[in-house]
Amino acid sequence: MKQQKRAGFSSSFGVLAATLGSAVGLGNIWKFPYLTGANGGAGFLLIYLLATLLVGLPVMIAEITLGRRAKVNPISTMEQLAPKGRPWWLVGVIGLVAAFLIVAFYSEVVGWVFAYIVKAIDGSILSSDRHVTEAAFASLISNPLQALLWQWGVLLFIGGILMLGVTKGIEAIAKKLMPLLFLLLLLLCAVSLSLEKAGEGLAFLFRPDFSKLSAAVVLTAMGLAFFKLSVGMGTMMTYGSYFRDDQDIPLTTLRVMAADLGVSMLAGIAIFPAVFTFGFAPSAGPSLVFITIPAVFSQIPMGQALMVVFFILAAVAATGAMLSLMEVPVVIFHERLGWSRRKATLVTMLSLAALGSVCALSNSTLAGFTLFNLNMFDLFDFVSSNIFLPVGGIAIALFAGWAWGKDNFRQAISNQGRLRNGTLANVLLFLLRYISPVLILLVMLKGLQVF
Ligand code: PFF
Repeated sequence: MKQQKRAGFSSSFGVLAATLGSAVGLGNIWKFPYLTGANGGAGFLLIYLLATLLVGLPVMIAEITLGRRAKVNPISTMEQLAPKGRPWWLVGVIGLVAAFLIVAFYSEVVGWVFAYIVKAIDGSILSSDRHVTEAAFASLISNPLQALLWQWGVLLFIGGILMLGVTKGIEAIAKKLMPLLFLLLLLLCAVSLSLEKAGEGLAFLFRPDFSKLSAAVVLTAMGLAFFKLSVGMGTMMTYGSYFRDDQDIPLTTLRVMAADLGVSMLAGIAIFPAVFTFGFAPSAGPSLVFITIPAVFSQIPMGQALMVVFFILAAVAATGAMLSLMEVPVVIFHERLGWSRRKATLVTMLSLAALGSVCALSNSTLAGFTLFNLNMFDLFDFVSSNIFLPVGGIAIALFAGWAWGKDNFRQAISNQGRLRNGTLANVLLFLLRYISPVLILLVMLKGLQVF
């Protein structure tokens, strides 16, 4: 299998679009706004920024670098690069489990997004009365058949693209969708900023109030930083393995981070001014996008058309992220078990449909089934972002900083000496050795109330 020429991204723009496609997703359009809204606005944003710079970015660079060095799936990458006999391949296994947990709940939300495109078009969520939009959302998620069918439809759609392969599937789609995403987002921002109380919404997003901060909120912000950049679980390692040898990894990563942040801010700018103008609470939680947004848009001129645009935008963003999430098991099954890519994708799709159903049904048939007071949807979300991704992040930082060897890291990140980024490599090594792992561990333990 390994002797065969392995597929990869074919152009520099393709690398950027695919990597950004993974980072940008429901994290920006659904999670970021509701978490920022629920945790006090700009204070949360600031902590999230710090976590992104000190933890997310170095780990992302490390992951991509390791992946490109080995040019193979995450489990084999760690096996190949680690000193003989050390169990670092477990990092890849943790990533595989995390991918399953995340897709299980994520695909459900993507299902809602697709359903909402249809509902926006047929007008059934068009009402300025919050109770009506609330009832519409409740009826979607509490109907087992609808919830399942939308989720399975999404898995089928993404699986179909993955079967086309890395270059003709993932890369080709990302190159088309990313520019479209920015265009739609800018359109929505322009409308939102023209609203009466735009200033209040912006102040909420940009004026810090630290009264809501707590250890749990800091953990949430860090979890979001990982989730946003798709790091800590081998996704970026997998995409790194498709990177071109002449790609400047730190520069690409920085661009992806900046653009991803830009999308989150633009989503915030599109959402909060509208929410404030019509007197809704910014802290509505996960339902913000599905209950508040329709009610808000129903009061804007051309609101229905804009609502269709909004949910198409969310679907576009989610597609790139889903592709990268599902690519992790696909490439692991393909390369480790020797299955064809088609078979690997099929098995991934089917097993995700089974596991995902547990989340899809958590608001109906399985509503009474809880662990630690969380239903399965919330549990998978919490455990993946706040435990799996941080643990994976610590392991990757420690591996790149200590176990792999400084010279290997410097060589790989400078494209074998062709890029002059020695100082940057030293800064990154310092962060990966001493700062990121300690910070992640402290925040995680404190946030989970271990001490
Ligand atoms: N980064 C994606 C988002 O913000 O929506 C979610 C995600 C994708 C997380 C891929 C993890 C991952 F491996």
